[in-house]
Amino acid sequence: MKKNLFIFGTRPEAIKMAPLVKEFQKYSGFDTKVCVTAQHREMLDQVLEFFEISPDYDLDVMKPNQNLYSLTAEVITGLKSVLQEYQPDFVFVHGDTTTSAAAAIAAFYSGAQVCHVEAGLRTHNKWSPFPEEMNRQLTGRIADYHFAPTAQSKDNLRQENIKSDSILVTGNTVIDALLYSSNKVETIENAEIEILKKLVDADRKLILVTGHRRENHGQGFINICEALKKIATDNPDIQIIYPVHLNPNVQKPVYELLSNVHNIKLIDPLAYPAFVWLMNQSYLIITDSGGVQEEAPSLGKPVLVMRDTTERPEAVDAGTVIIVGTDKDKIVTEANSLITDTEKYRTMSNLHNPYGDGKASERIAAYIKALDSLK
Ligand code: UD1
Ligand code: UDP
Repeated sequence: MKKNLFIFGTRPEAIKMAPLVKEFQKYSGFDTKVCVTAQHREMLDQVLEFFEISPDYDLDVMKPNQNLYSLTAEVITGLKSVLQEYQPDFVFVHGDTTTSAAAAIAAFYSGAQVCHVEAGLRTHNKWSPFPEEMNRQLTGRIADYHFAPTAQSKDNLRQENIKSDSILVTGNTVIDALLYSSNKVETIENAEIEILKKLVDADRKLILVTGHRRENHGQGFINICEALKKIATDNPDIQIIYPVHLNPNVQKPVYELLSNVHNIKLIDPLAYPAFVWLMNQSYLIITDSGGVQEEAPSLGKPVLVMRDTTERPEAVDAGTVIIVGTDKDKIVTEANSLITDTEKYRTMSNLHNPYGDGKASERIAAYIKALDSLK
């Protein structure tokens, strides 16, 4: 029986790998195990709990304010004994984090075949996003199979001479996760959502904010906070809710600069279903997140992306996402115009699904099953 090992470590990887793990667990023809590096701890555990996934291995590597050097080394050395003990045939890694690239290297050393989920996203700028663009290029070099979310991501891989027959366009598993979450929340009461219902004033426009990118640490976050303060002051009738990422380089400036603004609420990171609920309630989303850029178009929510580049051009082309960087004036001008210009808002909140139809995990599992039956 073929053995599959899923390796992930951060919140977004967990959200996007969870539907795939569940799909593989349904199939008795495979032995499937999960190894978390726990590059994130609390934010990872929130996801594991919601999707009811109990990892078989937990490297527990997270340290406060960790650096890329030691994190990379700990993931690679920690995986050695896991790979030697389990000896997987296929190792699945996701996206572009330090866990993804380090796990791909370790899996390659072990002789396993490497499957890259969310393959082929590119900005072609190695410093933006940092270090993610290089992480995904390295992972793509190592991978044997590439599960590309869109036709554009497949094209990016083809331009790097990756063979067409090792690439499958699947849609993004984030849409599978979004649908799983909506279905589960309909049947089970969620305490966090009940608390949020008391916090959100349904009569006021809600702006939802998230941010964490390393290249925005420092002056970028100061600009972002100043922009949010100005938007809140210019529009006293709107409410801004900001679940603040646990990275200390984010927590410090955000709490120092925004704690005392009456219509900005800073809260802890939310578990996935509560965050999806809040996205649904929002009028506008301002973020530097990759995953949120993919989810928001499916929910019909306009997004201002606080980055200089994006590897997710599909929603920009469709007009639901605007790239604003971390320039204070640009963020304020675009947000204020979406608050006041109803026609511009209506055009941007056009609901569409460039990133998937909820069947990406099924396609990936079917592909691996077919490979298995050929051998
Ligand atoms: C990481 C990924 C980034 C991904 C993001 C998703 C890298 C280099 N960065 O960035 O690609 O987009 O996750 O959120 O792989 N912390 C906690 N608890 C948690 C999570 C983080 O306390 O549950 C704090 C710790 O002090 C930790 C720090 O945040 O050291 C930074 O975590 P790290 O994973 O290195 O970077 P992120 O900014 O989270
Ligand atoms: N998310 C969440 N709780 C929050 C904020 C975000 O569950 O408080 C989810 C969000 O829906 C998306 C993912 O986390 O699926 C994005 O994670 P993040 O922005 O940290 O990472 P990125 O996608 O930029 O790598």
